Amino acid sequence: MRKPLIAGNWKMNTDSGSAAELAYGIAARADEFTSAELLVCPPSPYLALVRDAIGDAAVGLGAQNMYHEPSGAFTGEVSAAMLADIGAQYVILGHSERRHVFGESDEEVNKKTFAAYAANLRPIVCVGELLAEREAGKTAEVIRRQFEGSLASISEQQIRSTVIAYEPVWAIGTGKVATVEQAEEVHADLRKQLAACYNTSVAQTVRILYGGSVKPDNAAQLLGQANIDGALIGGASLKPDDFLAIAAAGVATVQA
Ligand code: 13P
Repeated sequence: MRKPLIAGNWKMNTDSGSAAELAYGIAARADEFTSAELLVCPPSPYLALVRDAIGDAAVGLGAQNMYHEPSGAFTGEVSAAMLADIGAQYVILGHSERRHVFGESDEEVNKKTFAAYAANLRPIVCVGELLAEREAGKTAEVIRRQFEGSLASISEQQIRSTVIAYEPVWAIGTGKVATVEQAEEVHADLRKQLAACYNTSVAQTVRILYGGSVKPDNAAQLLGQANIDGALIGGASLKPDDFLAIAAAGVATVQA
């Protein structure tokens, strides 16, 4: 049984006050959701503050991006070791906004993935097709290519500590959610790809999250799918009640 992972990607939102408030709000009720794993990914400047606000509560800490080099003259960048040092356990890599706004390639995502393992960070590697690609019937091909490129040469042990997130680009921040059938189809394909590249045990272990306009009112249906193991939540992760309502839907799938 894969423990559902309910992850909030705060993106470039909050300030120090609202970040602490959001973290306190989630941490205060975290013990109601222990059959799921809760994770918050604040902007980098607030990681330490959010870590402190979480305290001993069962809420993980993740970053939204990093650079693949361990240190050096890379002005403006943050390394995996720095994130680990400050207490992060996870890092989101290859988010569609990184790919499409900042031009990140699968090759770069792959380098970052290796750097994350080297620092004992668990990567959440994102894949997802554009609307034009879906309409051209290329979804499966695009997802396969991103999977192969972003996760190239990753060992069985490394893939076991990796989370994959499927986020159709057209469903992010748009209010358009993929139908459960559309989401489940891609998730099932990703699991087949894990089985083909590794083995059935890996395919049954690695969690595949869905992201793209996940809200309290659609979470139960999405998380109820056999191959959807959690959610990567943008907008709805900025309100403790909404985030925790989605977590409750994750918990319900475990109890079902
Ligand atoms: P929204 O939930 O705002 O659509 O964002 C999804 C996302 O990009 C999470 O990483």
